Amino acid sequence: MPRQILQNFPIVIRRLRSADYEAWWPRLHRLDLAAFGPSAELDIGLWEYAFTNYRVLVALKGNVVVGALVATPPSVLRGRSWCWSLGTHPKYQGQGIGKALLRRWFSQRWPNPLRGWALQVVSENHQALGLYKKAGFIRRRFFRDYFGDGVDGFCCYKESPSAIPIAQKNYVTKRSPRRKISRKK
Ligand SMILES: CC(C)(COP(=O)(O)OP(=O)(O)OC[C@H]1O[C@@H](n2cnc3c(N)ncnc32)[C@H](O)[C@@H]1OP(=O)(O)O)[C@@H](O)C(=O)NCCC(=O)NCCS
Repeated sequence: MPRQILQNFPIVIRRLRSADYEAWWPRLHRLDLAAFGPSAELDIGLWEYAFTNYRVLVALKGNVVVGALVATPPSVLRGRSWCWSLGTHPKYQGQGIGKALLRRWFSQRWPNPLRGWALQVVSENHQALGLYKKAGFIRRRFFRDYFGDGVDGFCCYKESPSAIPIAQKNYVTKRSPRRKISRKK
């Protein structure tokens, strides 16, 4: 679709389901190639797994895929939803699509308790780091050579304001018995 016509379309974010896998994964893979370059993995099995088990959010302008975010459900142990992939097509970057995808991720409802959100990012990816900082993520850990080939990375976390401590109901809060102090005069 020509760009002038596309400009008239608002950005719509849609959640894709496992039934959408066949029709949509090639479009998402093309987006990955555009956003991440030729190193974007072509692993059909991985895409199928993501469509079946993860939350797949796609940003559309008309019928054109302009961005996507794929995230895991919150883990049972730590209650964090991890971003598996986030990308905006280079032609549409800087228009708030990444921000809109993150907002949609934050408003997802999950069957298990959510404590917060997490992601990994290359330490030199200033564009993504700027976006994550604005969205409230805090850099928690620096990993040297995290991505291999000498590429360092950060793990970033954002706590959910409505988080319920995951294991709260299992905590046994027992006061330690008070020591009786006998004061000798
Ligand atoms: C990172 C990425 C997803 C951002 O998507 P986007 O749609 O361009 O992001 P937005 O337009 O919503 O930008 C939101 C914020 O990002 C930050 N940002 C965007 N471009 C930036 C730049 N060149 N330098 C620093 N910060 C930048 C700003 O804080 C911006 O907020 P503002 O517009 O209020 O100033 C996109 O650049 C991309 O797909 N990059 C390639 C793939 C990638 O690196 N993905 C992330 C992997 S962890």
